[in-house]
Amino acid sequence: MKEVRAIIERVTRLNEHYQRLHLTIEDFITEIKPGHSLLVRRLPERWDPYLREHWWPVGIQGGALVIERPGNIIYEPGEVVSLLGLVGQPFRWKRTLRHVLLLAYDCAPTPLIMSIPALLSNSVSVTLVLSGSAALYPTKHLPPEVEVFQADDQLAWPNRVMSVGWADQVFAVVNADDELKHFGMVWKIFSGLRSEIPKTYLYGVFQAIQPCGVGACQACLVAQKGSESSLICLDGPALDMTTLPLESS
Ligand code: FES
Repeated sequence: MKEVRAIIERVTRLNEHYQRLHLTIEDFITEIKPGHSLLVRRLPERWDPYLREHWWPVGIQGGALVIERPGNIIYEPGEVVSLLGLVGQPFRWKRTLRHVLLLAYDCAPTPLIMSIPALLSNSVSVTLVLSGSAALYPTKHLPPEVEVFQADDQLAWPNRVMSVGWADQVFAVVNADDELKHFGMVWKIFSGLRSEIPKTYLYGVFQAIQPCGVGACQACLVAQKGSESSLICLDGPALDMTTLPLESS
């Protein structure tokens, strides 16, 4: 974990709800992988919010690190930010992959977006399902090979049975107001669509508040089945849902 400074070189809008920041930065660029995130403080130091914000990279473009942020926050080109990272583990893709399902339930799909070019370049097909407020996410900028579905509040979308059956792996993000409850709903739906959910098939990507990012404060602790637990900042953000106590949700 290290702290580096970066300059916001450019701000581009995807729509009124999402914008992208292009950061000039030398560190991290070669190491950053889908699943990694950064803890960020805008400079000069502001203490609102008190904790560092959790920023998700979505790609590298022209040597700049691209971050996706909500559209209602004002960022200025030339602004300096302090980045702490890298937080978390890269997503653990299976060795043999043909199809991956990415699912955003009532939240921005941003933590999943960096995966898309990496998967497509390895000839893995990608389906992106957007439900609830995720429907506000624009998709025109995504590669045309990505199959996009809008789902209803119960995560129903056209061809759902086929998408779930074909997927070799699924990565889901959910509204952060109660991640375990929402992952429980995802688990129930997938349990109803498949005879069994094997290990390393269905992952919940956690976006818990991470005050330290290094395993020191325990604020991001998630209970696992049995007496085990995981820290999102060290073991996550993606946790295998077969290891989570979701059945009673
Ligand atoms: S954020 Fe402090 S232990 Fe994970």
